[in-house]
Amino acid sequence: MTIIVTGGAGFIGSNFIYFELKNHPADKIICLDKLTYAGNLETLAEAQGNKNFEFVRGDIADREGVYKLFAAVKPDVVVNFAAESHVDRSIEDPELFLRTNIIGTSVLLDACRKFGIERFHQVSTDEVYGDLPLDRPDLFFTETTNLHTSSPYSASKAAADLLVQAYQRTYKIPATISRCSNNYGPFHFPEKLIPLMIINALHDKKLPVYGKGINVRDWLYVEDHCAAIDLIIRRGTVGEVYNIGGHNERTNLDVVKTILKILGKSEDLIEFVTDRKGHDQRYAIDPTKISRELGWTPQTKFDDGIKKTVAWYLDNRAWWEKIISGEYKNYYAKMYGNR
Ligand code: NAD
Ligand code: DAU
Repeated sequence: MTIIVTGGAGFIGSNFIYFELKNHPADKIICLDKLTYAGNLETLAEAQGNKNFEFVRGDIADREGVYKLFAAVKPDVVVNFAAESHVDRSIEDPELFLRTNIIGTSVLLDACRKFGIERFHQVSTDEVYGDLPLDRPDLFFTETTNLHTSSPYSASKAAADLLVQAYQRTYKIPATISRCSNNYGPFHFPEKLIPLMIINALHDKKLPVYGKGINVRDWLYVEDHCAAIDLIIRRGTVGEVYNIGGHNERTNLDVVKTILKILGKSEDLIEFVTDRKGHDQRYAIDPTKISRELGWTPQTKFDDGIKKTVAWYLDNRAWWEKIISGEYKNYYAKMYGNR
């Protein structure tokens, strides 16, 4: 089987490529990635030597380039990870999110129409459901929860989901969608909560916690997300949405304190800063459907996953030191300088 993985030079896409190469060595993987600030070829260094792996630099919103690639490689499956993924950046500048996340997805869907496909899988997010109140721990997102978005990022992801469903119904594109909770693990870009806090703590820099740190996220180790997508593309039912999450809710403050404890650093490093605009309070996924229908369950407990993740950042300093010494410095100054 030939699989195009878009956005494979980013966090989850790269972990997915390694998962596929290890678990399905006969399959051919073509990574299509624009290499934006979040894409990094060094992340794929270990895949480059594999004869069943190929990297193609390109933009999913570039129709001509996407059609050329489909004509050349004739994919059986497309898994679309490519996206602008950071909520804070979407609040600063929404437009690029619309181009990549919506137009880009529509171009890929048109290519599937034109060239034929066995499966198009859209990697979506629990953020399309909006948020849940902090005082209702009994509520969870199911696949039938209404879409109700808060940020330009989540609105763009919800628009893409609706397009996928429209193409599935109108043009019979064999599509599936997964909506996952917050991932963590190796190759997570330093702008996101967990790597940012690990890296700042290692430098004895302040840890900027938004608001009171009481917002809740449902953390899943990235390999568990990859295993779920792998099951969906091979055994999932066309036209279906699958929620993915590990019942692992933590407040941001709890996550930050856990990281400080693992690193043996003082909680005095924590600094409460101005809250994110429109900040979603709580995400919590009900993963009953994927468990029941595809037998998926998460394998990594948070206490083990977070230790493994901290160890990965300690063992792979060169990977993130290069990132934080470049353009990231300007980003950090702009986002946190006067916060
Ligand atoms: P990321 O920002 O780490 O990586 C995104 C990748 O997409 C990068 O390699 C980037 O170069 C590439 N890209 C961006 N625009 C592109 C374009 N126009 N054409 C081709 N490539 C482009 O993101 P991530 O955290 O790995 O997220 C991957 C996907 O998973 C996204 O669709 C995101 O919405 C979804 N998701 C993420 C999480 C999470 O916790 N990170 C959870 C649920 C769903
Ligand atoms: O739920 C899935 C989503 O998870 C994905 O769709 C997104 O692509 C991914 O970025 C992530 O979104 P979040 O906004 O939840 O992740 P982030 O790491 O940016 O923030 C996690 C929480 O931590 C959130 O409540 C905001 C808070 N935060 C974040 C940063 C970067 C802080 O308190 N301080 C920070 O410096």
